[in-house]
Amino acid sequence: MKFLGKPRSQRAAFLPLCLLFLKILHPGHSHLYSSRYAGDKVIRLIPNTEEEAYALKNIYQQLKVDLWQPSSISQVSEGTVTDVHIAHNGSRALLAFLQETNIQYKILMEDLQKVLEKGRSLPTQRSRRSVSGYNYEVYHSLEEIQNWMHHLNKTHSGLIHMFSIGKSYEGRSLFVLKLGRRSRAYKRAVWIDCGIHAREWIGPAFCQWFVKEALLTYRSDPTMRKMLNHLYFYIMPVFNVDGYHFSWTNDRFWRKTRSRNSRFRCRGVDANRNWRVKWCDEGASMHPCDDTYCGPFPESEPEVKAVANFLRKHKKHIRAYLSFHAYAQMLLYPYSYKYATIPNFSCVESAAHKAVNALQSVYGVQYRYGPASSTLYVSSGSSMDWAYKSGIPYTFAFELRDTGHFGFLLPEMLIKPTCTETMLAVKNITMHLLKKCP
Ligand SMILES: *[C@@H]1O[C@H](CO)[C@@H](O)[C@H](O)[C@H]1NC(C)=O
Ligand SMILES: *[C@@H]1O[C@H](CO)[C@@H](O)[C@H](O)[C@H]1NC(C)=O
Ligand SMILES: *[C@@H]1O[C@H](CO)[C@@H](O)[C@H](O)[C@H]1NC(C)=O
Ligand SMILES: *[C@@H]1O[C@H](CO)[C@@H](O)[C@H](O)[C@H]1NC(C)=O
Ligand SMILES: [Zn+2]
Repeated sequence: MKFLGKPRSQRAAFLPLCLLFLKILHPGHSHLYSSRYAGDKVIRLIPNTEEEAYALKNIYQQLKVDLWQPSSISQVSEGTVTDVHIAHNGSRALLAFLQETNIQYKILMEDLQKVLEKGRSLPTQRSRRSVSGYNYEVYHSLEEIQNWMHHLNKTHSGLIHMFSIGKSYEGRSLFVLKLGRRSRAYKRAVWIDCGIHAREWIGPAFCQWFVKEALLTYRSDPTMRKMLNHLYFYIMPVFNVDGYHFSWTNDRFWRKTRSRNSRFRCRGVDANRNWRVKWCDEGASMHPCDDTYCGPFPESEPEVKAVANFLRKHKKHIRAYLSFHAYAQMLLYPYSYKYATIPNFSCVESAAHKAVNALQSVYGVQYRYGPASSTLYVSSGSSMDWAYKSGIPYTFAFELRDTGHFGFLLPEMLIKPTCTETMLAVKNITMHLLKKCP
């Protein structure tokens, strides 16, 4: 096969050959964090009474557990499932406590380090696949993702334009891809961001997958052609660049940004609690050491400010805001900060309903959908609520696979099925918003 004379869509199949060499030189996963998670456990707990919920909150605080689900201790309540990551030296105390109190629990992972290591594709698969092009079925480091973006910007200038909307706290560029046929200067647009929370690696993998599919199927798939002809997609594969980098080099379970605090040693702000919409109210923490810390003031994080500025500037054209998280298998829409129905409920609800059906049609994977407050939990200062409040009519947050079996450590083998089904949901939402909703 030759590159010359092939239509763009076929050339896309041979995407960045040169990136391959970068891959081989870059083993990634930073020696798997020097086995720091050996013996750590992930435990699912279900408090059945208010007293049990209260007792759990206390022990979580004492043992400084890493809460996976929900994301804040304040959201632990009677009847809701909580998944916690407990360090090896605290697990004995936690298990003794659970036996004593008779609280219902189940060990999801006996040894977190082992799950982490098993979740990677075999070295042979990692390299063999990359011979025929870029490997979209492994997780990529920030550097790899940025190199990939630069490469696409060079090789697919007809459909892709890469630009920066600012700098992160640690000075990294905040890159966005503008994807779509450049037919008119102003087209309606869809904003997509991935990786607001650093440890949710399936997010950035999906953003990359979306771009790959768009380039590969633009010619052959009428739906994709329609999408790229009628719309621009602004895609930010890694929103929280500093946090994502840190989750590769130091702490696989890092969630927040990496900004310093003037009074505490703890670093980082929850980039999904830092928006100016009911900022720092229910479901957000004022304490800098918490995982849901809302920050010293709204838009204190340069990453949040940069995206908010961009959306403010382009909101006239932006019809949809989509944000990708993990894990829970949910498709959420506003409000997140209160139990109330949004004005255009029926349009948004029917878009969500069709999207989860489309997703389920591929492998039968079930997603719950609904307002974030009643479907997941109440949280204030989220990007989705902010985007909705600033006038973008369709705003959604995806919580991708799974429901806790692997949690944040979704194995690389599951990137392809997860992204394949999610593609259908995103295409379905996009086609929905191209129609007029009554
Ligand atoms: C567990 O070890 C970490 C350091 O590896 C330490 O900071 C922490 O205090 C220890 N926790 C307990 C309960 O001993
Ligand atoms: C993307 O390519 C265009 C030229 O096609 C260039 O002007 C622009 O600076 C590139 N973007 C980045 C971020 O390098
Ligand atoms: C969207 O999904 C529904 C099923 O939920 C399906 O009937 C419809 O054809 C899909 N539309 C597109 C454009 O994919
Ligand atoms: C509801 O939808 C209509 C039609 O799409 C739109 O004109 C209106 O601004 C929307 N209202 C809100 C609050 O999103
Ligand atoms: Zn998240």
